[in-house]
Amino acid sequence: MRFLNDFPAVFMSTTAVVEVIIQPNKEAASALVARMVANDLKANPHLVLGLATGATMELVYRRLARMHKEDKLDFSLCTTFNLDEYVGVAPSDPHSYRHYMERHLFQHVNVDPRNTHLPNGTAADLDAECRNYEALIQRFGGIDLQLLGIGKAGHIGFNEPLSALRSRTRVKALTPTTIKQNSPLFGSEDKVPRRAITMGVGTILDCRRCVLLATGETKAEILAKSVEGPITSMISATALQLHPRCTVVVDEPAASLLTEKDYYRWIFQNEPEWEGYR
Ligand code: GLP
Repeated sequence: MRFLNDFPAVFMSTTAVVEVIIQPNKEAASALVARMVANDLKANPHLVLGLATGATMELVYRRLARMHKEDKLDFSLCTTFNLDEYVGVAPSDPHSYRHYMERHLFQHVNVDPRNTHLPNGTAADLDAECRNYEALIQRFGGIDLQLLGIGKAGHIGFNEPLSALRSRTRVKALTPTTIKQNSPLFGSEDKVPRRAITMGVGTILDCRRCVLLATGETKAEILAKSVEGPITSMISATALQLHPRCTVVVDEPAASLLTEKDYYRWIFQNEPEWEGYR
């Protein structure tokens, strides 16, 4: 268990901004996110790392697996917490997010399986499972770095439209948009679970650092609304504007509808924090 004053100053620093980093393509964007994770892990081997699923994250995990293999990036002391899991899908089911994580990351690095956490979507008492998940995150001192993707309806985790900005881990019904978006993995829409356990928007806002990765043209519209639009519970990603240390990494196609691209590029070129990433 850790307490706030155990954290070195570097982990307490808050730049109080949302920053947008635009990379030429999804490979470069994913590589940058993987480097951010690797650098935080090297600085703090006991990192509490928040993980996300989805096609966007696959390249990041592939990079991290390669860094482990080739550069001995060490995951042995880190702890992970995933954002969400489908209700009614067992961890061993190939459609579960537990299975996704095993396949894309856990199998390929030296993380201790006992230190990897996802909500259990088959728990007999789902509300108790949600409360316990929150308590477990607290027991590990909170999440240092949370990776996030974004759904087409603007969700982070499975925080569907009208998720309260202070919500905690709970069961959420999935919207038709999300069911449709995630249906390719299940074969058809009617096979997609109707509910999921997800960290709440408030849970995510409590993470010390958030990194959202969005790639591809299909994310351009929702990304622009999330970063430059008004904060609304209709689009849970807009809540990240309230976060003291959030970095949004995008490729050119996903950035195409942002109006302040030149400003974001200028910040990335001139902010000393990004020197090692340029
Ligand atoms: C799912 C996950 C989200 C993820 C989203 C995006 O809905 N629950 O956490 O951000 O998918 O997925 P993709 O990267 O496949 O677009």
